[in-house]
Order: sequence, then structure tokens, then C-alpha cells
Amino acid sequence: MSRVIIVNGSPRKNGVDSGIAAVISAEFSAKGHSVETVDICSLTIGGCRGCMSCRKTGRCVQDDDMQSVIDRMRASDMIVLMSPIYFAAETGQTKTFIDRLTSAFSGDRPMGKARVSSVLLTCADPKGGERYGAALDRLRDVMGYLKVDDHDGGCIIGGLTPETVRDSPAVREYIDGLASKL
Ligand SMILES: Cc1cc2nc3c(=O)[nH]c(=O)nc-3n(C[C@H](O)[C@H](O)[C@H](O)COP(=O)(O)O)c2cc1C
Repeated sequence: MSRVIIVNGSPRKNGVDSGIAAVISAEFSAKGHSVETVDICSLTIGGCRGCMSCRKTGRCVQDDDMQSVIDRMRASDMIVLMSPIYFAAETGQTKTFIDRLTSAFSGDRPMGKARVSSVLLTCADPKGGERYGAALDRLRDVMGYLKVDDHDGGCIIGGLTPETVRDSPAVREYIDGLASKL
């Protein structure tokens, strides 16, 4: 049994990303895995202040919801980071979350037992996979900075609506790829 954490950077509670997260959660749970979805937009996560105190202490000076998410990422086998594309990049909330991962940068395994990560970006443009590759590469790099062994996973899926998520061949292919890494 593996433990999977899905970090969802969409503010829409019933949107495309939350729909994909729900399918992943249902399917992997049915196979006996433990899946937790963290909706970062509903948490209190302040912007990084750049004070670098965390480099000395390993913790952020801000006592908000971030440390708890880092702890749960470290306790997971697989990290799935998902976000809609907003103006050719991840959402602002996702960027804020990533900046706050600064406090996790310590030791040989900043992400604890997590050895696999995957980044999923969704967008309106059906050709978003061609347009927004730079954003995907950047977020995969973040997982590389965090020394997750297998950090190149993920893709961009464009043109979905919440109603079309379940029947989407692209979503099916993405989830099958994830399952193969569990
Ligand atoms: C502020 C904003 C900016 C967006 N910018 C883009 C964009 O640059 N390119 C694109 O293809 N879709 C863009 N979209 C559409 C979303 O990326 C797309 O609908 C996404 O799948 C929504 O995911 P969600 O339902 O999980 O929030 C934008 C949406 C919003 C609200």
C-alpha cells in the first residue's frame, strides 16, 4: 500500500482539477492505497518573506498551515502537484505554496519518503500541452530541487470542463501512468 498526497492549487472547489483529484482518490483508494487531497487555496499559507530563518531552523517563522502540508508530503510515497494554468503559469496560490517549500530544503531527502512526484497542469486551450511546456518543466524542476528521485512525471491537459473529466482519454492515460508508479 502506498500513500499519495495530491496538492491541488485550484481555487475552484468543483472544477477540473478537483474532479481529476476525485477520480485519482477513488481509484487508488479502491486499490488499497491511502490518498489525501490538500486544497491549498482553502488553507492559510502566507507568502515567503525571504528572511531565510528557515535555513537555520528548518521551519518558517510564519505559523500557518504550510508546515503541516510539508509534514504530510514527507510522509507520502507519491506527491501529485496539480494546478490550472492562469496566464501561462500556475495559479498564484500554487506559486506561493512553492515559494514556501523553501523551508523544506534541508538534508539528503527534503521530501522524506516521497520518491515519486507528478505535476498536472490543466488549461482551457486544447493545445495547452504545446503552449505551456515551460510551466510544466519549471514545476518538475521544483520537485527535482527537492530531490524527489522520479520527478519528471506529469503532463498538461487542455480543453476539459468539470463535466468531461471522467470520460477524458487524456485523464485516463494520466491516471494509468500514475498507477504504474505506485
Ligand atoms: C484567471 C484565469 C486565467 C487563465 N489563463 C489561462 C491561460 O492562460 N491559458 C489557458 O489555456 N487557460 C487559462 N485559464 C483556464 C483554466 O486554466 C482552465 O479552465 C483550468 O482547467 C481550470 O481548472 P479548475 O477548474 O481546476 O480551476 C485561465 C483561467 C482563469 C480563471
